[in-house]
Amino acid sequence: MALWETTGIARPWLDLRAEIREKRRRDRKLFLVATVRGSIIGAVMGAYDGRRGWVYHLAIAPAQQRRGVGTAMMAALESRMARVGVIKVNLQVRTDNAAVEAFYLGLGYADDRVTSYGKWLVAPPVAKT
Ligand SMILES: CC(C)(COP(=O)(O)OP(=O)(O)OC[C@H]1O[C@@H](n2cnc3c(N)ncnc32)[C@H](O)[C@@H]1OP(=O)(O)O)[C@@H](O)C(=O)NCCC(=O)NCCS
Repeated sequence: MALWETTGIARPWLDLRAEIREKRRRDRKLFLVATVRGSIIGAVMGAYDGRRGWVYHLAIAPAQQRRGVGTAMMAALESRMARVGVIKVNLQVRTDNAAVEAFYLGLGYADDRVTSYGKWLVAPPVAKT
């Protein structure tokens, strides 16, 4: 959770503690962390919904960025996904996070040219702005 706070993944309306708990219950093998001497310096949540693989919350600690850790974590996640039958991986990037575009393009991801819609079935604890 601290890593996601410092890397701009956290948002007031996200209950990260609940997300971690649920992800560990449902997709334990697709929830990866990278550590250095016991400290978490990278994390990514994967999901397989039976049709597509999805990637959430990839984050590398600022001091460890641009050392290939993000690339290695995505490779590890993709290989785990392939092993459980995923044929295509999707991910969403916030429109205000243009900096990450070069990273994903470099890994072979392409803009699918779709608009993502969402609807809360349970109101978030804090209004989404
Ligand atoms: C995006 C992120 C995960 C990349 O992790 P990383 O470990 O630094 O990435 P890598 O070292 O594997 O980078 C591989 C290549 O991607 C590109 N790249 C990575 N970060 C970049 C940046 N900020 N700007 C431009 N290109 C970038 C470069 O081509 C880089 O190769 P190079 O360092 O040899 O030039 C990391 O910057 C991060 O945690 N960002 C904040 C959280 C975030 O935005 N997550 C994505 C949510 S969708």
